[in-house]
Amino acid sequence: MQVTIRGRTAHCRSVTFDAAHNTVRLIEQRRLPHQFQIVATPDYRATAAAIANMTVRGAPAIAAAAAYGLAQGTRAFRGASLPGLARHARRVCDTLKRARPTAVDPVHAMDEVLARMSAGETVAEQQALALAAAEEFAHRSVADCTAIGRHGAALIRDGARVLTHCNAGWLACVDVGTATAPMYAAQQQGKRFHVYCDETRPRCQGATLTAWELAQQGISHEVIADNAAGHLMQRGEVDLVLVGSDRVLARTGEVANKIGTYTKAVLARRHRIPFYVAIPLSTIDFELASGREIPIEERAPAEVLGAWGVVDRGGPRRTARPGAPVYVRVANPSSGARNPAFDVTPPELIAGIITPVGIFKPRELMRRRGLLAARR
Ligand code: MRU
Repeated sequence: MQVTIRGRTAHCRSVTFDAAHNTVRLIEQRRLPHQFQIVATPDYRATAAAIANMTVRGAPAIAAAAAYGLAQGTRAFRGASLPGLARHARRVCDTLKRARPTAVDPVHAMDEVLARMSAGETVAEQQALALAAAEEFAHRSVADCTAIGRHGAALIRDGARVLTHCNAGWLACVDVGTATAPMYAAQQQGKRFHVYCDETRPRCQGATLTAWELAQQGISHEVIADNAAGHLMQRGEVDLVLVGSDRVLARTGEVANKIGTYTKAVLARRHRIPFYVAIPLSTIDFELASGREIPIEERAPAEVLGAWGVVDRGGPRRTARPGAPVYVRVANPSSGARNPAFDVTPPELIAGIITPVGIFKPRELMRRRGLLAARR
């Protein structure tokens, strides 16, 4: 998407690869919206660390980072034997997979890279194929998100008020976004609409990242506290809920997404508001038989017990330079916290899954496997 920083506008992807330096280049999402910075990870372990610490986050974005990370690790291999390279690639894959467990996209992206590599007959050929496959994954991810926009834009009528949760925008993908794709497409069609961004505690991806994206694109929006959605729905002030996902089970139609998504789906059903989930094809899991089997990431208690931000100019005490990043402890000092990062929404609460090849009922996905898997 176009990014304007200090009056200069440029097109930007959240994840790219610098082949000359064998580095993965990432927008440092933990600094947004206060600072726009691009960081380069020098090796695959640093790429895995950037995924784990959420320098890069969002299922399709970490998939691209993992695919590039695998290519990066493969290209750093100095041996001459193909079995040696295969063992090395497997180790790289395992390290990248362990970084974050809930999203299935990185697994699919790396499986694709491994499959493409195996056609090479020399180490050099396999290294080149690994990078080509990672680049292809990233390009397809952008094409997928653009297609999601084409299918989903019709759901946003002129004057609509849309609620979204977390950040399923271009930052969470390589470009365009999943839940935001229909918004950007509707904007291009000249529709006017307003977006409520759930703050999305504990890491506040809605308040920081989605709000920044929408502000950059000139889309009318407001941040709301996570607990405000029910009130707005009850007053008839929300017409549509649009979210992304980290894993959609084709066998059951269950959707794993950022913690708090399930709560919003229950509320939407109570108020008869359509609840849609937008996903690229890499998010579909055709294997797991139950949402209970989805590995739900548990993150550090510190995320719940406090909050990150920057020192405000008008703050009560000027202990640090305005604009400096800070973590403040909010909770009672002697209390601990539980921090599940995702939840699972059942299919009966979901009006439709917006994919690059059309909108489907959640329980329809398995029947459409031919179409959905072939395009992946
Ligand atoms: O923990 P995060 O920020 O990586 O989680 C991302 C999400 O859950 C998003 O809401 C999203 O829908 C999935 S990525 C498009």
